[in-house]
Amino acid sequence: MKKTIAVLFGGCSSEHEISRLSAATVLRNLSREKYDVLSVGITKSGRWFLTEASPEAVENGEWENSPLNRQAFLSPDRSVHGLVLPGAEKMLRVDAVIPVLHGKNGEDGTVQGLLQLAGIPFVGCAALASAVCMDKAVSHTLLDAAGIRQAKYLWFYASDYAGEAETVRARILSELGGYPVFVKPANAGSSVGVSRVESAGELDAAVAKAAHEDWRVVIEECIVGREVECAVLGNEKPEAALVGEIGASAAFYDYDDKYINGTSRLYIPARLTPEVIEEVRRTACRAYRLLGCEGLARVDFFVRNETEIILNELNTLPGFTSISMYPKLWESCGVSCPELLDRLIDLAFAR
Ligand SMILES: Nc1ncnc2c1ncn2[C@@H]1O[C@H](COP(=O)(O)OP(=O)(O)O)[C@@H](O)[C@H]1O
Ligand SMILES: [Mg+2]
Repeated sequence: MKKTIAVLFGGCSSEHEISRLSAATVLRNLSREKYDVLSVGITKSGRWFLTEASPEAVENGEWENSPLNRQAFLSPDRSVHGLVLPGAEKMLRVDAVIPVLHGKNGEDGTVQGLLQLAGIPFVGCAALASAVCMDKAVSHTLLDAAGIRQAKYLWFYASDYAGEAETVRARILSELGGYPVFVKPANAGSSVGVSRVESAGELDAAVAKAAHEDWRVVIEECIVGREVECAVLGNEKPEAALVGEIGASAAFYDYDDKYINGTSRLYIPARLTPEVIEEVRRTACRAYRLLGCEGLARVDFFVRNETEIILNELNTLPGFTSISMYPKLWESCGVSCPELLDRLIDLAFAR
């Protein structure tokens, strides 16, 4: 029997637009022989609609103007096991959900918590791992405790910065070894709110920018090296795909470089020795298990001096656009996008 799969996209997040691009790819690649697909769009202001819009309309945002959109939301009530359409006083049973949402209110455990409450299987990490991986202050602390190498870092509450700017400046010198540094919001994504800071004079503006996205700010030493990413798939026994490398065209892999310019190059496999690639894959799976990931994650690293592996972050709902690294890495391993989606859905049911 066909399974009904609901694809959630959009969301109240600075990555709303990217989510629409990822969702269009998912909608185009889900097998209609195996699944009945329901598209549920969440507007930037947080309204939920069941929509018949085409993947193109999802991609370009036109879906919001479709006259056929009907208000619909996930019910926490397990007897519904799906969507409630309040106007139509109707309920739609859903077998599983793919939350194709990036960033806050989607990748951070919020929607995952609702799905757990509703008892509906869903693709990807559960609430705790989602929240932990989303928060760089928390994930850095946990990975540090497990001895996984990362950039030297410090974090503080944005609201404390006004009174403690001098202390932060001193800590940058003593704990991180000075400038340049990277300033980031603890919770965000797609490089939103991230700055490379060359000197103390630029710090206030960078902290203000990061603070605009989150209440905690992380500062890291700047790692000079290659930027590589590993696609991991699975529940208790995760598998790692090949490792890809980003040749960023900008000063760092920023938002425009990721999604607008399309000028950064991807190298698959990464330009590293087989031994280093193996170590990246092993470390990716180790970090994935340590933080309790399930389903999928893209684990990002820097490689300094061709051999030193430094973990940057785990993305629990990595970009899934046609040019994104996660699906491309599996494709290079012989797993097509429709097949990858089948595996992710199977993992959701297996949990
Ligand atoms: N410590 C660092 N050293 C060097 N480059 C960094 C560092 N941290 C981030 N970057 C650059 O900034 C980009 C975005 O930072 P990242 O921490 O991955 O944030 P996001 O969660 O928004 O993707 C990275 O892809 C990388 O190019
Ligand atoms: Mg990143």
